[in-house]
Amino acid sequence: MTEQTTTPGSTPGEERDYDKYRVIQDLDGWKRSHHCNELTAANMDQEVTLMGWVQFRRDHGGLIFIDLRDREGLTQTVFSPEGAPEAVEAHERAHAIRIEYVCALRGIVRRRPEGMANPGMHTGEIEVYVNDWKLLNTSDTPPFPIEDRVDASEMLRLKYRYLDLRRPRLAKNLILRNKAAQSVRRYLDALGFLEIETPVLTKSTPEGARDFLVPSRMSQGMFYALPQSPQIFKQLLMVSGLDRYFQIVKCFRDEDLRADRQPEFTQIDIEMSFPDEEQIMGMAEGLVRTLFAETINAALPAAFPRMTYKQAMDDYGSDKPDVRFELRLQDVKDIFAGGGFKVFAAAPCLKAMRVPGGLELSRKEIDDYTEFVKIYGAQGLAWIKVKEDGEWQSPIVKFFSDEEKAKLAERLGMVPGDIVFFQAASEDVANASLGNLRLKVGERFGLIDEKAFAPLWVTDFPLLEYDAEDKRWVAKHHPFTSPQPGQMDTIASDPGGALARAYDLVLNGSEIGGGSIRIHTPAAQKAMFSALGIADDEAEEKFGFLIEALKFGAPPHGGIAFGLDRIIMILTGAKSIRDVIAFPKTQKATCLMTEAPNVVGKKQLRELGIALREKVAENAEVKKEEA
Ligand code: AMO
Ligand code: AMP
Repeated sequence: MTEQTTTPGSTPGEERDYDKYRVIQDLDGWKRSHHCNELTAANMDQEVTLMGWVQFRRDHGGLIFIDLRDREGLTQTVFSPEGAPEAVEAHERAHAIRIEYVCALRGIVRRRPEGMANPGMHTGEIEVYVNDWKLLNTSDTPPFPIEDRVDASEMLRLKYRYLDLRRPRLAKNLILRNKAAQSVRRYLDALGFLEIETPVLTKSTPEGARDFLVPSRMSQGMFYALPQSPQIFKQLLMVSGLDRYFQIVKCFRDEDLRADRQPEFTQIDIEMSFPDEEQIMGMAEGLVRTLFAETINAALPAAFPRMTYKQAMDDYGSDKPDVRFELRLQDVKDIFAGGGFKVFAAAPCLKAMRVPGGLELSRKEIDDYTEFVKIYGAQGLAWIKVKEDGEWQSPIVKFFSDEEKAKLAERLGMVPGDIVFFQAASEDVANASLGNLRLKVGERFGLIDEKAFAPLWVTDFPLLEYDAEDKRWVAKHHPFTSPQPGQMDTIASDPGGALARAYDLVLNGSEIGGGSIRIHTPAAQKAMFSALGIADDEAEEKFGFLIEALKFGAPPHGGIAFGLDRIIMILTGAKSIRDVIAFPKTQKATCLMTEAPNVVGKKQLRELGIALREKVAENAEVKKEEA
């Protein structure tokens, strides 16, 4: 498939189409001529009209300075008590102006006096001498200052989110998010993908999380589920022959939240007919490259590197390795098998990570790391420091034989200045604890190049994974993912061994997208459900419509979905997903501004045929009181 690197009509880099501001902008005869981040020495002596919010005001009785802000930036304006009568009158009225008042100002662009220019500001060379202005609205004193260096609590800022969004940093994130969405649309439109909407009131779509449910009034006792993704609908659109689909779409997942997870988030969801993995990955790489070029002018590699799931887990302890830096995990189990140190000898898995320069770590730092890995189920964290004279310092080496020491030193290439960390545990715990420790250590030693973009495809995922809690096999991606050729037959005998035609796109250690080639025959889909222990009647009840559809000439198809919020986090450098969403939820999945979720009236519940258990109703009322 031919890839688009730039799309027609796109504006790479930071340039903006300023003329937009001059269209449809007439308020009671006041016409906005420029936005607040536009004027430079090139506009000298022009009469201009700005509209915006008062960021800052200095009034010493003589000149009054007002910084006017809009979403683009700031312009310094000056009210002078001397000059034409109109300007003098404007100055007289300006004493009443307060922070966050909304004003229209008309004046003349002047160069700032010698030595007063601010090179850090786009409009820093000029100021606007106001000769008339109009108050458009007053404002109460905001609960926190509207500035980037704000120290108000996030709780307060989320309650007044609309004010927080006036801060340049957050406004910039949303401006960039828009740019990214438009870039994606142009790219996919140029390749013949149709933007098609799919239902929000629907039936459960299994993506591994809990569903949000919506009770039905017309069919009492029944519930819609909000989509965890449009997965099934996009596949049905392929059965319809629509060939190439995309949608920038809200998905809903009731799961534990983290810094990069929200209960409702946005996917760039894509599906195409007659593809193989290469076509989808090529199209997806082009999309990501174009997106980065058009939004932040960053050049991503021409071909993204690939790694199998197995290699990622073996070397990095993670299926989303951050390959901006080199530290790797190494398997050392064979060296200590049957040896004298029981913790190592008895463990099902033993992995080590050598950290050059780690000798300088303090006892306290090592203790903190030991506590840290316990989050991932580790019992402890063993370590060896290699001192400058080559001697090993460690609480555990006394249990090692000379042969074990020699083999270990050779395998890991230990040299003076190193620390080596060990994790003896189940494979999952060893990988999770050392994999996450790797990221912490990478940060501690400044190994991560914050400016780099390191994309990576992770391929050859297992088809199934064992859910220890539910004691059954579940789909690693989702149950519509096709196994690799020949693997369907071995699912029953070796469920953990089968590989999927699935791929994830990882960028700087964040999983930004994932997809697969789908199952497209009813027989294979049924076999998959049965491998997952889903009985025929349950499969029929939940997914009967899909199996039915696959009987009517479903084309081979596949696709991918990107997490738009996570991509915007990387583009903007935001540490929290909340910083790239206009109205996000808290870690507890609540909205502090609207106070959703909330209790509902008895009448509404009655109409829905719902009665709350007494205790639940009481607790909800108490919680509401507390909030
Ligand atoms: P998957 O479940 O991998 O695949 O989701 C695709 C991408 O969505 C993002 N993502 C999230 N972002 C923020 N908050 C969340 N709670 C959240 N959950 C997921 C991730 C992830 O890579 N239907 C399939 C795609 C397909 O097979 O085509 C799907 O939803 O960046
Ligand atoms: P112990 O014998 O329990 O005192 O442990 C000796 C050292 O091994 C301590 O530094 C522990 O933190 C570490 N340790 C204990 N259990 C494990 C384990 N499962 N994996 C790695 N190190 C461990």
